[in-house]
Amino acid sequence: MRLFKTIPALTCYLELYRSGNQDLIDPVTNPTSVPMDGGVGLVPTMGALHQGHLSLIRQARRDNRVVVVSIFVNPLQFSVNEDRDRYPHPMEGDRQLCQQAGVDIIFAPSPEELGIQDAPSELCDITMVIPPQELTRGLCGRSRPNHFPGVATIVTKLFQIIQPDRAYFGRKDAQQLAIIQRLVMDLNLPVEVIPCPTIREVDGLALSSRNQYLSATERPMASALYQSLNAAEELFKKGERSTQVLVNQVKSQLEEKPFIQLEYVELVDPDQLKPIKTIQNRGLLAIAAHLGSTRLIDNLLLQTRQPIIAIDGPAGAGKSTVTRRVAKALNLLHLDTGAMYRAVTWWVMQSQVEMTDQPTIAELIHHCEIEFHPPLNQLEGEGEMRIGINGHDVTQAIRSREVTANVSTIASQPAVRKALVKQQQRFGEQGGLVAEGRDMGTHVFPDAELKIFLTASVAERARRRHADLLSRGQPIQHLSELEHSIAERDRQDSTRRVSPLRLAAGGIEFITDDYTIDQVVEKIVNLYRQL
Ligand code: PAJ
Repeated sequence: MRLFKTIPALTCYLELYRSGNQDLIDPVTNPTSVPMDGGVGLVPTMGALHQGHLSLIRQARRDNRVVVVSIFVNPLQFSVNEDRDRYPHPMEGDRQLCQQAGVDIIFAPSPEELGIQDAPSELCDITMVIPPQELTRGLCGRSRPNHFPGVATIVTKLFQIIQPDRAYFGRKDAQQLAIIQRLVMDLNLPVEVIPCPTIREVDGLALSSRNQYLSATERPMASALYQSLNAAEELFKKGERSTQVLVNQVKSQLEEKPFIQLEYVELVDPDQLKPIKTIQNRGLLAIAAHLGSTRLIDNLLLQTRQPIIAIDGPAGAGKSTVTRRVAKALNLLHLDTGAMYRAVTWWVMQSQVEMTDQPTIAELIHHCEIEFHPPLNQLEGEGEMRIGINGHDVTQAIRSREVTANVSTIASQPAVRKALVKQQQRFGEQGGLVAEGRDMGTHVFPDAELKIFLTASVAERARRRHADLLSRGQPIQHLSELEHSIAERDRQDSTRRVSPLRLAAGGIEFITDDYTIDQVVEKIVNLYRQL
């Protein structure tokens, strides 16, 4: 692990790495199972690292070849009367935690290095990035008007200096996350923002560097915040959708705790942060309160959508059959991502565009709309889902030999993948679907309620493929050849740059060697019913 305090040292290292100098990567902290070209991941922090930060770092470690953690207590996001001077600075402890977590680089610049005066935001004279007012004026922005412009400015600077492929932010700071997502969209910044779940103490208190300020008597009281949110969530689960009722539930819980001074409790749209009267699909229930001299924040995402099942795994593990059968058994939409790639391939062919003309294809896909429709003979519960693209029913057409011959060329194009992932996520907004692919749980639906990694040993998959070829009367390869090509495909899939194939965080691995399809389907259906 390297610690850099200056921009030239950091950028020099990253430039060397990007120009292909793999020797820079420490083989001890960075095992070979990490994707070879998996890009650069950034975890921005203000130090005083805890398990919340470490969960972001671990996710970044899973996704990237190089992990950069920035540690910088940003003066721009503190006002004169705030706690910047007492913010903890345990640099040696942070260094050790990063080392253990397999971080490659800590970037710990001084304010001067970043061209910022070492003074509260009101006194800094610097070009600022000002997020839209509607995102910053409510919630924490009401009492901390300079805070989010300060955050947006420093995060933009870090993105510019490090140029990460991905950046990791916690849901614990939900307003910050929404603002950064909007910043990246509005300024077309070439970075993917990855939201990560809130990590809590056993009693529910969300981990925070500021928890250190709590005295021994205050500490057990602090979980009251989470408990009050939890009480509202219980009502929500019973069907309550009214903001007034849910917010009052939190307030009445906290009224019984005189040591807590409530700053706000609000229910807002999680992306636009606008107050809502009732929850249609999703609502962010957010709270800020003071306990003694410590300001604490917390939130819960309340969502009505039905659960999502994401099924990933290598070829030959039985994914498609299992997914189709699970969808049918649970009456869920089968999001057939393979069919989506076939549909856009068909569209590209219809448009008479060269299969390798990536810019034209990127533009074409930008205007594509894919639909799924129930089978024609739905009443009998038979038949496959129909798929349409831009109003054309292509259920049959996408199975043609020409489409089959071209689909992998189209599917390997980053712009196509990006556009289709967006469409897949749009289908996921309502939930109630089962999606099968290679990066459904890791990338497309990281929040899926059930993430399954369906696999089987190489020998078993070769045996199944052999039997399949035999039954279809197709030319048969020797088993050892099949094993060799399957192992090689696994290697390529798990080390590729874009969304490598692997078990998602919180996913369940099923090794299906000793199970029938029926048993696998039954297991997944039961898991779903227990959600
Ligand atoms: P800091 O408070 O150090 O947090 C760094 C990151 O860790 C943020 O994305 C935050 O949401 C996440 N985080 C903190 N506690 C968490 C928890 N309990 N569970 C999950 N994630 C958690 O947020 C900042 O620093 C700064 O504003 C920064 C983005 C670095 C800009 O200065």
